[in-house]
Amino acid sequence: MSLAVGSTIGILGGGQLGQMLAVAAGRLGYRTAFLEPDPLAPAASFSRQIQAAFDDEDAIFQLESLAQVITLEFENVPAPTLEGLERPLRPAAAICRLASDRRLEKKALEQAGLPVAPYRVLDPQDDDLVLQRALSELGSGLLKTATLGYDGHGQARVSDLAELREALGRQGPSVLEQEVPFTRELSVQVARNPSGQVALSGVIENLHEGGILRRSHYPPQASPQVQERARELARRLANAWSLEGLLTLELFELPDGSLLVNELAPRVHNSGHLSLDGGGFSQFEIQIRAVCDLPLLDFAPEREVFMINLLGWPSPEQEPDLAALLRLPGTHLHLYGKRWRPLRKLGHVNVTGPQAAEIAAEVSALLR
Ligand SMILES: Nc1ncnc2c1ncn2[C@@H]1O[C@H](COP(=O)(O)OP(=O)(O)OP(=O)(O)O)[C@@H](O)[C@H]1O
Ligand SMILES: [Mg+2]
Repeated sequence: MSLAVGSTIGILGGGQLGQMLAVAAGRLGYRTAFLEPDPLAPAASFSRQIQAAFDDEDAIFQLESLAQVITLEFENVPAPTLEGLERPLRPAAAICRLASDRRLEKKALEQAGLPVAPYRVLDPQDDDLVLQRALSELGSGLLKTATLGYDGHGQARVSDLAELREALGRQGPSVLEQEVPFTRELSVQVARNPSGQVALSGVIENLHEGGILRRSHYPPQASPQVQERARELARRLANAWSLEGLLTLELFELPDGSLLVNELAPRVHNSGHLSLDGGGFSQFEIQIRAVCDLPLLDFAPEREVFMINLLGWPSPEQEPDLAALLRLPGTHLHLYGKRWRPLRKLGHVNVTGPQAAEIAAEVSALLR
């Protein structure tokens, strides 16, 4: 049954994703309240903040007394909080938990029949023999921390035992993943509402540098067959897990056109920000619709659109000329109101229109 207009949606986390979810919810006649410890939370511009830690029982009680349903924009909420909620959590705690631990995530993806890169679960207690065997079976690879990694943090490229031992000691329990020679990175989203209706996004192409998303593009260069397979993987997962809410899959396309799932997020995603200005439904509206059990429709931009991330510039005096950017036709600037820190995600720019590719290149140059 759909959530009544005027009801409140609770959101765990109050970063930029929460900010844009709150706007989308407001447009559909819902109020939002969010739990977030950061006193400078981006979502506070559009939503009511409960400023407390994610395990603060009084704060959780307060959120649940305001909200009829809970969703999230941040997957590292402690499991006891997710599991102890009285209100429906969408996506469910079990899905959120998987997404916050790479070991569980990879196993669950494999169990649902989705392909992932070859990997081994490793622990600092493991002896040299185990580590050496993992290295010789996988070749050099990426050691990724099991929990709390983001934007390439908690990752190290390792090619011999000494490097592996050192990185494992630093990171703690991790997954060693074979480095795959992808031709491109893609993302795809699926939403499913409690009534069982499923909607798929268009497939987005992503460019990362140093583990951080720099730029996304729709439509992707990938063939229609590859795009259809990506969507099929997302659909399979949503049905296998009886998803309620929205999730994003990050994918690698290999030279032979096959796909591997890199990771998943139980929520809207940085790459999907281009849906705000490409025409069609935004990822934020779709997550809200799914959470509120409203009708869902497939969602893809109606025109070509580029998304360029505005990352914290290297030093304060290198601040980019945002006024110059605002003078370029077809550019849509989104700022999150966050304090500057090098490489921090401070905003993004969507570019559309007849000269989108050229202007996107200019925007990228301005934001260097
Ligand atoms: N097995 C791999 N082979 C080749 N490149 C990889 C592999 N794993 C990760 N990468 C590169 O590093 C990027 C970041 O990796 P990943 O998505 O696992 O990290 P993250 O820190 O969780 O990032 P985020 O959560 O911000 O997406 C990928 O988008 C890709 O460009
Ligand atoms: Mg990633």
